[in-house]
Amino acid sequence: MAQKTLFLILLATFLSILSISFWILYESNIESVSDYVEQTSDDFEQTSNEFKSTSNKFEPTSNDIESSNKSTLAPNVPISIVDEHTNEDSKMEVVTAAYLNIHYYIKYLKILREQHNKMLYDILHEADLAVANTSVYSVTLKTQLAPSKDLHDYMSLARYFWPNPETKDGLPYIRRDGFSNPEISSVPDYIYLRKLMKDIQYLGLAYFFTRNDTYVKKAIYRLNEWFIDPKTKMNPNLNYGSLIKGFEFGRRTGIIDFRPIYKIIQSISIMSSSKSWDNKIESSFKKWLTDYYEWLTTSKHGREEHNAKNNHGTFYDVQATYILQYLDRIEEAKEFGWKALKHRVNTGILADGQQRHETSRSTSWFYSVFNLQGLFLLAERTTLLGFDGWNYRGNNNQSIKTAVDYLLPFALNGGEGWKFKNIAGFKFNDYIRILELSWIIWGDDKYLDAVETLRPKSKLEQALGSHEVWEDNSLCIWSLINEKSLWSCFN
Ligand SMILES: *[C@@H]1O[C@H](CO)[C@@H](O)[C@H](O)[C@H]1NC(C)=O
Ligand SMILES: *[C@@H]1O[C@H](CO)[C@@H](O)[C@H](O)[C@H]1NC(C)=O
Ligand SMILES: *[C@@H]1O[C@H](CO)[C@@H](O)[C@H](O)[C@H]1NC(C)=O
Ligand SMILES: *[C@@H]1O[C@H](CO)[C@@H](O)[C@H](O)[C@H]1NC(C)=O
Repeated sequence: MAQKTLFLILLATFLSILSISFWILYESNIESVSDYVEQTSDDFEQTSNEFKSTSNKFEPTSNDIESSNKSTLAPNVPISIVDEHTNEDSKMEVVTAAYLNIHYYIKYLKILREQHNKMLYDILHEADLAVANTSVYSVTLKTQLAPSKDLHDYMSLARYFWPNPETKDGLPYIRRDGFSNPEISSVPDYIYLRKLMKDIQYLGLAYFFTRNDTYVKKAIYRLNEWFIDPKTKMNPNLNYGSLIKGFEFGRRTGIIDFRPIYKIIQSISIMSSSKSWDNKIESSFKKWLTDYYEWLTTSKHGREEHNAKNNHGTFYDVQATYILQYLDRIEEAKEFGWKALKHRVNTGILADGQQRHETSRSTSWFYSVFNLQGLFLLAERTTLLGFDGWNYRGNNNQSIKTAVDYLLPFALNGGEGWKFKNIAGFKFNDYIRILELSWIIWGDDKYLDAVETLRPKSKLEQALGSHEVWEDNSLCIWSLINEKSLWSCFN
């Protein structure tokens, strides 16, 4: 119980520090952020270890207490952050504990401040790399043309398809689900596209924290290069996405390549207030998206992907809803998004929470979590558009929460008892992020208890290098509390 309380304090404090530091930075015009970050990130390593060891056994040293200036503690800090959904008693418990155990509180404050600084450091680091990168990003760089022979058509190769051993030339390729063919990297459109989306996300966030127009200018440059400049632009279609070698067209499934389009859309809303923002480029980009949306809804691939029952359909819905909203087609966005959410919950989640179209995949754990990410993004959008997607219950009383809960006991047992084919094993990092968000959204303590248990496993996964660093998570939480938006939470 004491551990849980401490953990609540930790999370609560974390959230409040993020909002407060954000506010302070914002108010003080942020000139000095990078210096500040530079300096504190040095000792981050050390404190994150400290954090690891103290989360099990909490013993503040007298140093921590002496070196802290109590008068700098903002009053009311812990109160504002506990989500409304959390019941009054546990809210009071957090607040009281925080004030009674001021030593603990100060110690956590220090650690969390460092985490926040690490987040800023990471953002600025990534954004500076994006600024410094002078490579061309374009679909026109590939050496193999799409079957259309149009250099401006996007192409990507089907991930799970391999040369056919029965034919001389290996064509057409055949499927081995769950086994990625490294040959996909020989057509770099996909790599550039994803890099573009990531770069623009970091440029937007860096601008937000620094108000440095250099970031905006680079984002504009990249948007122009990828979508507009006649020399390098991409045509607004995905006719050749996820192409299986030996076929004339790509497949509907290639549409998921465009999944993180929300990163661009959300970053634009951050940068468009800058004096360096280019409205002409943005209108051209809107025109491009309008054409792309038309393709998405009328092409054979687009219609088929929309009808997909699994994560492909979910992420199609996420794209379409974000794009409609960005294009100010709000009524359409509402109609589309609400209907999509209901449909996905009813058809994708069984009464007990199993996501049957994902559990039938050979990497069933991964896809069960991945589809949840899509459902979360969709629910967040529909909620913004006036429909409470988080708490919508389908015809069998199932909901997104039921699907989160279904995975929980298996996660806690390291995957034991999971009765589905699952060749890629169990990774927990992404699911833990879902659990953290679940705590914020539904306020159910069991999610925090689970995070506490699973966190060491996630740390281990990160140490092995299979995931981004844990601290990136703070970006997600920050985004959630400042905009009630999940867009920076998932890759
Ligand atoms: C503590 O904070 C107060 C108010 O900002 C400041 O005047 C004082 O110098 C600080 N003391 C220390 C030891 O930093
Ligand atoms: C803005 O960011 C760029 C790229 O990191 C940097 O070179 C430049 O010095 C920054 N300008 C200011 C005023 O901080
Ligand atoms: C710039 O980005 C491209 C595309 O991801 C990458 O191939 C290249 O190595 C990057 N260049 C630098 C200097 O980081
Ligand atoms: C639906 O599920 C919720 C949450 O599990 C439960 O509280 C409610 O009683 C259920 N409703 C019905 C009609 O079963």
